[in-house]
Amino acid sequence: MKVTPWEVEGEVDYERLLREFGAAPLDIRGMELPKPVLLPLRRGYFYAHRDFDKFVEDWREGKRVSIVTGRGPSGPMHLGHILPFYTAKWFQDKMDAFVFIPISDDEKYLVKRKLKVKDVESFALNNVLDILSVGFNPEKTRIAIDMKDTELYRPAVVVSKRVTFSTMRALFGLTQESNVGWVFYPAMQMVHLYIPQILYGPHRVLVPVAIDQDPYIRVARDVAESIGLVKTAGLLSKFMPSLESPSGKMSTSDGGEEKVIWLTDDRDTIRRKIMKYAFSGGQPTVEEHRKYGGRPEIDVSFLYLYYFFEEDDRKIREIEEGYRSGELLTGELKDYAAKKIADFLEAHQKRKEKLLRRDLEDVVESFSFREDERRRIKEWGREF
Ligand code: TYM
Repeated sequence: MKVTPWEVEGEVDYERLLREFGAAPLDIRGMELPKPVLLPLRRGYFYAHRDFDKFVEDWREGKRVSIVTGRGPSGPMHLGHILPFYTAKWFQDKMDAFVFIPISDDEKYLVKRKLKVKDVESFALNNVLDILSVGFNPEKTRIAIDMKDTELYRPAVVVSKRVTFSTMRALFGLTQESNVGWVFYPAMQMVHLYIPQILYGPHRVLVPVAIDQDPYIRVARDVAESIGLVKTAGLLSKFMPSLESPSGKMSTSDGGEEKVIWLTDDRDTIRRKIMKYAFSGGQPTVEEHRKYGGRPEIDVSFLYLYYFFEEDDRKIREIEEGYRSGELLTGELKDYAAKKIADFLEAHQKRKEKLLRRDLEDVVESFSFREDERRRIKEWGREF
């Protein structure tokens, strides 16, 4: 198993990752979260954290809280990529959180050998459109694109002076062959995590991401207090399982484009992919399935429903028990999962169409830094 922000290989052992990274297991019992609690948070897809309890406490005390979560535009987005943004939206709706969304076109340009500048630029716009289709409030949300919003460079210089090469190498798995831009880039992402504090003064900022992004949170926490900021909090998820394996990561790198659910897939495509590829915990024949029953805990369609798409606790229990007893067949389970995923994506696509009826530049502009915010970023860090 190998997990860095740029590479995930093999079966992911989530418990081992926790120990290696040193994050805390998440137990939301006893935390006073707004209701209804977001499904992936309630059902354990988010399974680890750093200071999430303190973040919730600060919110309960009426203090300002913010969210940062971003995207590296290496291609179109799939279902797994959009989850942190729906999570951010939940925090915005329930806790009135300010949300900052950085787009790291620089990161993907530096890391992916084949990508040209024009590729990452165009993926950035394509991805922003999907992210905005989540439905953020423009008054409380900002988006910045690293190579376009260049005021982020100055704070990145301040931050980069506080991290050694050996730290970067250890945390990010850099090698002698890594280009020097790649060595510097983590300083940019650290700045992303600090932006709400740079704009509005020290306060708790939560970063909801899949666990591969945790190294950035760790290094940002190490430096925060030395530059007068509050330590960054993290809410860490597992990966959305790939269609073909309950413990793999939904990704194009090995499965090819066909084995991923894209945000643009229509109902028929989703159904076909689930029917054809979704790993099943069922038995090879209907007779055996009726006799021995299936294993929901390794069935990808079941896991999608459980973590993301079946809100109703009674219904999910019925499905689980029905499948385990052999009463519910694999085809029936797949059919239902495909329908729920398609419902979710159709709603997303409808919001996107609505957005596309407006001038895209105007839309992006309404989520960009305002003049006074640009000034605050430019003026930050003089004393360091
Ligand atoms: P990126 O573009 O690789 O992924 C975007 C977000 O999606 C998460 N993710 C997944 N979640 C569930 N299942 C999957 N299969 C899956 N694949 C990816 C990632 O953890 C991430 O949260 N460096 C970042 C972009 C970034 C960023 C930030 C993120 C720039 N600045 C500040 C958070 C905060 C990246 O390349 O993500």
